[in-house]
Amino acid sequence: MIDYQPFLQHLNHYSAEFPAIADWLKQLPTQIDKGLDEKRYGDLSRWKQALAGMPNFTVNSVDLNQSAITVSTENTLDIQQCEALTTQLKGLHPWRKGPFSLFNVEIDTEWRSDWKWDRLKDHIEPLSGKKVLDIGCGSGYHCWRMLGAGAELVIGIDPTPLFIVQFFTLQKYIQNHHATVLPMGIEHVPDKLQFFDAVFSMGVLYHRRSPFDHLMEIRSALQPGGEMILETLIIEGKQGEVLVPEGRYARMGNVWFLPSPGTLTTWLKKVGFKDIHLVDVSTTSTEEQRSTEWMTFYSLAEFLDPDDSNKTIEGYPAPKRAIFTAKAP
Ligand SMILES: C[S@@+](CC[C@H](N)C(=O)[O-])C[C@H]1O[C@@H](n2cnc3c(N)ncnc32)[C@H](O)[C@@H]1O
Repeated sequence: MIDYQPFLQHLNHYSAEFPAIADWLKQLPTQIDKGLDEKRYGDLSRWKQALAGMPNFTVNSVDLNQSAITVSTENTLDIQQCEALTTQLKGLHPWRKGPFSLFNVEIDTEWRSDWKWDRLKDHIEPLSGKKVLDIGCGSGYHCWRMLGAGAELVIGIDPTPLFIVQFFTLQKYIQNHHATVLPMGIEHVPDKLQFFDAVFSMGVLYHRRSPFDHLMEIRSALQPGGEMILETLIIEGKQGEVLVPEGRYARMGNVWFLPSPGTLTTWLKKVGFKDIHLVDVSTTSTEEQRSTEWMTFYSLAEFLDPDDSNKTIEGYPAPKRAIFTAKAP
């Protein structure tokens, strides 16, 4: 069941110190209802039914600090129980971000999101005791890792209702209400919250039509001195260079800008970010993003030129991603 009440109660603890949070709390129930409106999202009632049908098991341990977010029980599941759980989970196909291990059912997601986490975790300010926003968090895989790293409060936001249902599937068993995933885009988070100690934006900037507006949104969610962790597609090239794909990029229709690292650094400075560090550049491999039995659609291998894996199917440079950290002024 999707129940935001325990999380909203936790968030309410911050209301006295942060009036902007008190104001947001007044709007949140309406925003949540809108983001999970069954009239707008035809498949939502089916996904909610899949969630309602997840079997009840006693949870004996939860591990948020290994590659797969892991929930275990001391009682070994029999074959029927395993099959029942697998069937319900597959009702939430496609599983894109993970992996997860639920009572020994291994959800091998399209993405090895743990690899992204491993690339950034040693370059960021410690998350212990922090308030964190994860913009475009998908199923919330990284939100759980942030909680595992000691964050006091983690808000993920994502406008795709399937991912909200996937998050609440994990939440059914994990029952840690210091994290949630809200059904909304960054454009619906109030301006000038200046609340979060850390804001992650990973895999989102290139989907936004105006990169500057997105960077301003991140800045306005952060407390002064708070840390942004920005992960996005880039191209190799000089400062000032940027690729604007004419049509699709790696079969994605909504990719607007792929800057060079130098260009992106200039953008960050222009928006006022300080202490800017490029901490990682990686080419996405077909081991990191691939079809699996939990995501049976086409994946990266089909989005690359079959004769030259350095190019996308449209002839652009193959996906390369950079991670930047920077501080809000
Ligand atoms: C490429 S995925 C990245 C997922 C995850 N952050 C990661 O790095 O693995 C982009 C996500 O952004 C979400 N998204 C799309 N538009 C958004 C918006 N306006 N605000 C927040 N998230 C958005 C999508 O639903 C999708 O889950």
